[in-house]
Amino acid sequence: MSVNPASQRSESGSKEAHDDADHCTKILQVMERLSQIKDVQALLAEVLLHARRLTRADAGSMYLIENNVLNFSYIQNDTLFGASEVNRYLYSSHTVAIDNHSLSGYVALTGKPLLIDDAYHLPPGMPFTFNDSFDRLSGYRTQSILAVPLVTSHNKTVGVMQILNPLNDDRQTSTFTPGDLLLLKHFADNAAAAIERAMMTREIIMRMIQMCELRDPKETGLHANRVGAYAAEVYHQWSLKQGIADDEIKRNKDSLRIAAMLHDLGKVAISDLILRKPDKLNSEEFRIMQYHTIHGARLFRNQESDLDVLSAEIALNHHEKWDGTGYPGKIDDIYQDQLRFGQGKRGEEIPIAARIVALADVYDALVSPRAYKDAWSETTTLSYIKDQSGKLFDPEVVHAFLAIYDVITAIRGKYPEESSPSSPATSS
Ligand code: C2E
Ligand code: SIN
Ligand code: SIN
Ligand code: FE
Ligand code: FE
Repeated sequence: MSVNPASQRSESGSKEAHDDADHCTKILQVMERLSQIKDVQALLAEVLLHARRLTRADAGSMYLIENNVLNFSYIQNDTLFGASEVNRYLYSSHTVAIDNHSLSGYVALTGKPLLIDDAYHLPPGMPFTFNDSFDRLSGYRTQSILAVPLVTSHNKTVGVMQILNPLNDDRQTSTFTPGDLLLLKHFADNAAAAIERAMMTREIIMRMIQMCELRDPKETGLHANRVGAYAAEVYHQWSLKQGIADDEIKRNKDSLRIAAMLHDLGKVAISDLILRKPDKLNSEEFRIMQYHTIHGARLFRNQESDLDVLSAEIALNHHEKWDGTGYPGKIDDIYQDQLRFGQGKRGEEIPIAARIVALADVYDALVSPRAYKDAWSETTTLSYIKDQSGKLFDPEVVHAFLAIYDVITAIRGKYPEESSPSSPATSS
């Protein structure tokens, strides 16, 4: 099969598409220069862990301000969860109004830190009450709380960090000290700048995905967000099984989430006539569509960072199949003009990141409605995935996926397809 890029360009709409592709490359280059890209979730994990180490806190959570509410964004709890059980909680969507009714709302509103010795006996004069719903659901007993706002150097509050229950040498719960408060405040101020930068980067990536890939004002990048999160969590599970070291898992998971979000960026070079066709594609159209893998890989051609390399690898290989029947197959030089698809890569010839994204992408495409198809039911989708283990998909990847299916479901809940009215603010 062969497509001459020049003949593609004569097709209606693809001149704009080509310009879009140039814009994308430029935006990507600027992004690379502006910041060492860091995923928000990975950064929050690091910040919270260090804050808790400084103060010996047993647990903690982070809220980020998005759309003028506090969005529950991260949790750690040594007593309740081990390393992998926590993941389901990370994707719970739970918001808190920025007002006096809750502890974290108060901290965000006033910009003042709070030190509380016993959550169940608040000092007199506090305008808020302690919301014990987490304790009731989990059986945890919150006692001492230290909450600080995350304020940047230009006085913008980006969120709230709360840590709970410092442990003494005998691992008994004690109370935070004014010294802990100063330490945490200082630490939070430094972290705020990095968190703000990561949130801005995520925002730019989401806009780029909207502009480049989808060209549809209704599309908010939900598919990209879900595929990124599924892929990161499946990788986490898969790599624990492989005995990969913790810090390596963390590093790869961070990049994988971002790179997986960009898996279909090459669709920018596909004309709207094909991309937005409300029906089945004919074979000629599908052939052109398949080139989104090549276009995507070419977008990351500068290969300056590990993220570029990974993004190119995923874009190129996410439609390869475990049994060797996928596309675009082995190609000597993806930059040549007259390019032919090669013999399908098979098994471990396909990079692991792409094997994972392949499953994440197909799962999401099946359970979501598309212009050209209805959503499949969960049961049908899961039996299809099991049936395709060893054919379309790497069996070990399917295994990891099914092992964390509760996390997968939580992610779907966090980025739902229909924009349901946001749930009423609850307090923390
Ligand atoms: P996508 O919508 O993100 O779908 C990703 C992959 O999910 C597809 O890769 C395919 O492996 C799987 N998939 C999606 N829908 C179905 C389905 O109804 N049945 C089955 N068995 N698998 C499904 P594929 O086939 O290589 O397609 C790549 C991209 O091409 C799709 O990305 C989509 O954007 C486009 N596309 C594919 N077929 C059609 C079509 O009939 N009409 C239109 N308008 N676009 C299509
Ligand atoms: C957040 O809400 O900022 C963390 C969750 C995510 O990255 O989507
Ligand atoms: C895609 O086909 O990959 C994007 C369209 C969607 O998110 O529904
Ligand atoms: Fe794709
Ligand atoms: Fe996709």
